[in-house]
Amino acid sequence: MSVVAIVGGQWGDEGKGKIIDLLAEKAKIVARFSGGDNAGHTVINPYGKFRLHLVPSGIFYPQVTCIIGNGVAINPAVLLQEIDDLQSHSIGISRLFISDRAHLIMPYHTILDKLEEERRSKGALGTTLRGIGPVFADKVARIGIRAGDLLNKGVFMSRLKSALELKNIILTKVYRASPLSLDEIYQQYCHYGERLVPFVRETSSMIREAAAKGQLVLLEGAQGALLDPDFGTYPYVTSSSPLAGASCVGAGLGPRGIDRVLGIFKAYNTRVGAGPMPTELKDKTGDLIREKAGEYGATTGRPRRCGWFDAVAGRFSVQINGLSDIALTHLDIYDGFASIKVCTAYRFEGQLLTSFPSDISVLEKCRPVYEKLDGWQESINQARSFEKLPSEASNYVSRLEDLLSCPINLVSVGPDRTEIIERNPKSAVRNTKR
Ligand code: GDP
Ligand code: IMO
Ligand code: MG
Repeated sequence: MSVVAIVGGQWGDEGKGKIIDLLAEKAKIVARFSGGDNAGHTVINPYGKFRLHLVPSGIFYPQVTCIIGNGVAINPAVLLQEIDDLQSHSIGISRLFISDRAHLIMPYHTILDKLEEERRSKGALGTTLRGIGPVFADKVARIGIRAGDLLNKGVFMSRLKSALELKNIILTKVYRASPLSLDEIYQQYCHYGERLVPFVRETSSMIREAAAKGQLVLLEGAQGALLDPDFGTYPYVTSSSPLAGASCVGAGLGPRGIDRVLGIFKAYNTRVGAGPMPTELKDKTGDLIREKAGEYGATTGRPRRCGWFDAVAGRFSVQINGLSDIALTHLDIYDGFASIKVCTAYRFEGQLLTSFPSDISVLEKCRPVYEKLDGWQESINQARSFEKLPSEASNYVSRLEDLLSCPINLVSVGPDRTEIIERNPKSAVRNTKR
């Protein structure tokens, strides 16, 4: 196996950063393929604790080339801050590259994200306010500005001028806000450009070449399947696809170029922002999970909504991503629980649903049907083999595996890089040979 797409299986924050930091040890390339700085990927390793928003989670290994792919939207100010932060921790960034096709988040994108959320009022989506909806809307509307445009000041000025004319009409006439200055944005982005230009290049060929040599390439997803604009809880979704299918388009490979698809799932469910979440626990158990796991957003600091594992949504995620493997994280958070529930079906107006509905007005009315499993009382974060887990913990993992119909080959028992159980090391995603 050589190219592995790694995606979030739920509503984001499953622990993608942790797992990718672990698996990147043997990789040649780690490439982000979607989202923007709405993502917050936490990595805890011997260099410290990092919250990466744009830089791929493989940056801590000197042999790994890190690529911010064409499918990512880049806020240059955030990226430069992240680069500075990594350098201040002596992490080399000379192997970081940015796709010239990646779109740039401009000041009007973040301003419009906020204005649009305010206009939605009670129906606000709870976005991260990072300009994600507006930047991807502009990409599809063909009025976006790409990283490669920074390489040619004339082209950049003409694209910016044309986009800003429209944005200023919207800002002033629709929202009664102040217009933005063309000259100020131009100067500011030329300044960012001076620092970023050395990183900008065509990147998809680098990925295909490494894959052709059989070198391990990890395609790093952001967000999670249930935030996908097509298959997620629309309209409470993000604006680029977090699915494995998008890893091809967002990095520059054909579908036949992907060898394995690893989905990351938490042992329970969380969600930040608005939208339906059938297993949400608005009680002491939900609070206990939040406090024990520190479930506060890595990007916005907002408390995450917590609830039992939703296997109906989980199965759907396995199917739409075509997962070959699962990494289950946060199993340690259940240490000390007398019992643990898993949602195996939904009850909707007297019917039993076992598939995930496409209509949120249905999902909002779904009541979870739970199966109760025994908990365990000891701490599991020292366990490094499946056999060392208490039987209740291994039973829980096996039951999820049955419900999801996909092998759980990695089990994470703590936030640190070392807190991991590799169940089938030979079959697993670490093996670099095809
Ligand atoms: P990502 O967006 O998918 O990379 O996930 P985040 O970094 O936003 O959130 C995951 C949080 O859980 C971070 O604080 C991680 O340090 C932490 N974490 C990851 N894996 C585990 C685990 O197995 N156990 C515990 N207790 N924490 C974990
Ligand atoms: P990572 O990669 C969790 C959520 C927001 C909001 C919705 C739309 O760290 O898993 P947006 O700003 O994208 O327009 O917001 O999507 N969201 C995330 N939730 N983890 C993320 O990324 C997220 N990125 C966006 O909270 O509900
Ligand atoms: Mg996150």
